[in-house]
Amino acid sequence: MRSPEQELLALGKRYWLPVYKPRELVLDHGRGSRVWDTQGRDYIDFGAGIAVNALGHQDPDLLAALNMQAHKLWHASNVFYTEPPLRLAEELVKASGFAERVFLCNSGAEANEAAIKLVRRWAAAQGRPAEQRTIVTFKGSFHGRTLATVTATAQPKYQAGYEPLPAGFRYLDYNDAAALELAFKAGDIAAVMLEPIQGEGGVVPAAPGFLERVRELCDEHDALLVLDEIQCGMGRTGELFAHGQVKPDIVTLAKALGCGFPIGAMLAGPKVADTMQYGSHGTTFGGNPMAAAVARVALAKLASPAILANVERQANDLRAGLARINQPLELFDEVRGSGLMIGAVLADAYKGRAGEILDHAAARGVLLLQAGPDVLRFVPPLSITDEELAEGLSRLHDALNDFVAGRKPATDRSGP
Ligand SMILES: Cc1ncc(COP(=O)(O)O)c(C=O)c1O
Repeated sequence: MRSPEQELLALGKRYWLPVYKPRELVLDHGRGSRVWDTQGRDYIDFGAGIAVNALGHQDPDLLAALNMQAHKLWHASNVFYTEPPLRLAEELVKASGFAERVFLCNSGAEANEAAIKLVRRWAAAQGRPAEQRTIVTFKGSFHGRTLATVTATAQPKYQAGYEPLPAGFRYLDYNDAAALELAFKAGDIAAVMLEPIQGEGGVVPAAPGFLERVRELCDEHDALLVLDEIQCGMGRTGELFAHGQVKPDIVTLAKALGCGFPIGAMLAGPKVADTMQYGSHGTTFGGNPMAAAVARVALAKLASPAILANVERQANDLRAGLARINQPLELFDEVRGSGLMIGAVLADAYKGRAGEILDHAAARGVLLLQAGPDVLRFVPPLSITDEELAEGLSRLHDALNDFVAGRKPATDRSGP
């Protein structure tokens, strides 16, 4: 006889396109930074649905906003106005300090796709021929899975087999300002697109001064600066946006913008705010009133001093905890990142084994992510409490001890 959990796992194996490899458990509900599976076992959530549930699970204000809107109007499309996306656009513009207009969509890839199209339209409007509309992106980046965004994603493993890829992208080493300077000499670059902290590529922050230098070079060569803050934005670094004092031309957001309700946004600065006109782009669901009602509350809460202060405080505790755990184990070479976007880089002896560690962690009741095979990624809810963080670290400690000692993932956790 199969347990109800085994039955569900079998459905995934039988019916899903096998593009994912989820851990062997079925999550059922959550509260704060804790989730429970269908067996009643609880987990501390250090992954937040890949940096999405920034206010944890069942945040009462998000629930109230969703409920309220659910009883009014679910969807209207963009051939009619509704209030939530109108208000959200204004609030995003005001919070951004650079943007003039917003395009609302449904996901990160869709926000980046819009950014890529906006760059191309802008260059076209300047009379630049197609071969002079190149977009520079950086090795290790991740910008999404549509054909254009996976081409912007300068990692061959995501592109293999999808050729022919769209033309007009060039890849450089991240943090190599000299290479960018040289690349500009070709005279064909319309934009530079980058993550202020590379997420999927291993939690790699921009080097000090790199963003500023990219901005200067873009200005010198009349190119646009596009920042993908889909993972590192919305308060994750301890500031609402990850770009500090640098003024971008375009910023893309998704993930934590809806705190779990799907929504994306492309913010356009003065150079490009009026480039796209009626008919040049669109989406049925973008700015859906349910998503926008939730995102308005998410934005207000994630920008609040209380959340931003919590990011700093919990980031310090998380780093201190990781250092303490690592001291006898020597599992990590480096802990890097910013705010609550932290990568622990596995030492040479453990390279390639992040996935195994994630199995051990889940077995001990803590959900983690990897960023490639060599980096453990910590992106917990920004609202995580002292107690949840301490409990997560304690479970992680047990999991890492199991792993280093060569034990099999623990199987003795049962529900209440
Ligand atoms: C930096 C960055 N850009 C874009 C995306 C794509 O977002 P989505 O999966 O919502 O399409 C991701 C997703 O992980 C991301 O981390």
